[in-house]
Amino acid sequence: MLLEPIRWEKNSIVFIDQTELPAKFRYIRCREIDTLCSAIRKLKVRGAPLIGVAAALGYALAAINSKALTVAGLKKDLKSAASKLAKTRPTAVNLFWALDRMEKKLSHASSNNNVKELRKEILKEALCILDEDRRMCRMIGKNGERLIKNGDKVLTHCNAGMLATAGYGTALSVFYAAKKSGKKFKVYADETRPLMQGSRLTMWELMKNGIDATLICDNMAAATIRDRGITKIIVGADRIARNGDAANKIGTYALAVLARYHGIPFYVAAPSTTIDKNTRTGDDIPIEERNKEELIYVGSKQTAPKNSKVYNPAFDVTPAELITAIITETGVYDIKRFRRI
Ligand code: MRU
Repeated sequence: MLLEPIRWEKNSIVFIDQTELPAKFRYIRCREIDTLCSAIRKLKVRGAPLIGVAAALGYALAAINSKALTVAGLKKDLKSAASKLAKTRPTAVNLFWALDRMEKKLSHASSNNNVKELRKEILKEALCILDEDRRMCRMIGKNGERLIKNGDKVLTHCNAGMLATAGYGTALSVFYAAKKSGKKFKVYADETRPLMQGSRLTMWELMKNGIDATLICDNMAAATIRDRGITKIIVGADRIARNGDAANKIGTYALAVLARYHGIPFYVAAPSTTIDKNTRTGDDIPIEERNKEELIYVGSKQTAPKNSKVYNPAFDVTPAELITAIITETGVYDIKRFRRI
């Protein structure tokens, strides 16, 4: 069952409020760019590819809402919208990739263009980005599926599934494709503190799709790998540098270290829109730091002194040397080969 975490409908953006899952499945209709920016910041819409799609649709929303009568006026309005969207989350490169592509579309327009037609063209481009993401997810699943063997026990972290993309997901797309081809395997999902994307979102969507999934909390990973015989780890990514270093949800790096110690492969699944050719190594990837309340409270319950000093990076970087291969829509690249593409 393919979820639809975001769609364009009646000149507005409709998305699942992921902060409410799994207790409530609720769509929000968004007619203003500021509402969308706030939703991205609060992780109502999240996951690198989905953030990219949301940014493209947000750009189109700003075009539709613009009262400009000239191309120059429209360009001014869209510049302001792009700058708001760009400030929402810094790590997922898909956001910047999507804005860049939308801006390129607009930059080809001359002052003679019909503004109404231009708005339509911009929306078409955003919907094209959504469609392409869906196709890339399917191909990631197809390409990665052969890595799953009967009897595998695969650990994943955060949510790199349908809720994080416009399609089947990245890491989880591999599981959906493997199930479709009849393979028998088990998935273990880290709960993913502090915002619980693993327990709230990954468990929810895997169970909905009939995947044999078991929830563990993050500090059980080492023991689970050893005692339950995890055979491989597959995660998503928010940005992959040119040398193969990959930023993903905080806790991913620890899993890669564990994989190396236990001699099991560690795979990163991501579309090419997550590969940032302008970033040389992981050291150049900006890592989002989020507010201290995320660690001081669990939901509405206070679990640490209010004035605690807190360090809360949302992502970490796994060095390429700990990654076995990167699964993309064009193939599975052994990390040494990846560095050459
Ligand atoms: O903070 P989030 O929930 O947006 O972080 C999401 C992740 O880290 C995912 O693993 C990543 O975006 C890949 S999603 C296909």
